[in-house]
Amino acid sequence: MKPKHLKAPFTWEERRPVLTDQVLYVPHHYQDHTAWTMPAWEDPAVFGKQGRVCIEYCSGNGNWVVEKAKDNPDTCWIAVEKRFDRVRKIWSKRENLKVKNLLIVCGEAVAFTKHYIPTQSIDEAYLNFPDPWPKPKHTKHRLVRQPFVTEIARVVKKGGVATFVSDDLPNCERMLEEMVKSTLWKAEFPFPHYVTDWPNYGYSFFDELWRAKGKTIQYLKFVNE
Ligand SMILES: C[S@@+](CC[C@H](N)C(=O)[O-])C[C@H]1O[C@@H](n2cnc3c(N)ncnc32)[C@H](O)[C@@H]1O
Repeated sequence: MKPKHLKAPFTWEERRPVLTDQVLYVPHHYQDHTAWTMPAWEDPAVFGKQGRVCIEYCSGNGNWVVEKAKDNPDTCWIAVEKRFDRVRKIWSKRENLKVKNLLIVCGEAVAFTKHYIPTQSIDEAYLNFPDPWPKPKHTKHRLVRQPFVTEIARVVKKGGVATFVSDDLPNCERMLEEMVKSTLWKAEFPFPHYVTDWPNYGYSFFDELWRAKGKTIQYLKFVNE
């Protein structure tokens, strides 16, 4: 399967939530999310089984999450990516590796989390190399702000974890500040609350890119209190 073999399920005018072939499309610039009901995780259209549920936000081309799903077949995985061209790449990898335990979501992270994920239904959340948007005037584009922080606190089980990975120390520090500010999350690692080595964490496109350029990677981990 090539990425181009995944066809868009609707035109812009016809956009609506669509779940087909284990890909959920959450339309952009759409107000009527609650008119459609997300099936339970164990529904055959989603995972068809019960189990631990882990989610990766901002999956890009899916290298990290497809490998995780392949290596952990008893866990249900969700990949969330807003760009359809990248969703196609995740889908192509998933199909070619015959991975069955990965739901791909083509949609924006906060909209999907808020309208489609039940409360306390996720065991682990991951965010690998989110776009840093370093300039103050671009603050509104950053994902890790209070709407995201509070929504993931709602959907991750109590005692469940959220792990964020960055190559950019100021971005790491901003994400840390947003998480602890909410009081819903407790940083797992002692001060400075990140580590720079996490054996067997897995590799993503941006992880390999930044390591090749000699950058240090920071890992933040939080527990939902
Ligand atoms: C820098 S890339 C990292 C991709 C991948 N995690 C990796 O490590 O290779 C960031 C990705 O996040 C996606 N993204 C940014 N904001 C998003 C949002 N609010 N919801 C869903 N995806 C988003 C972008 O489209 C892009 O593919």
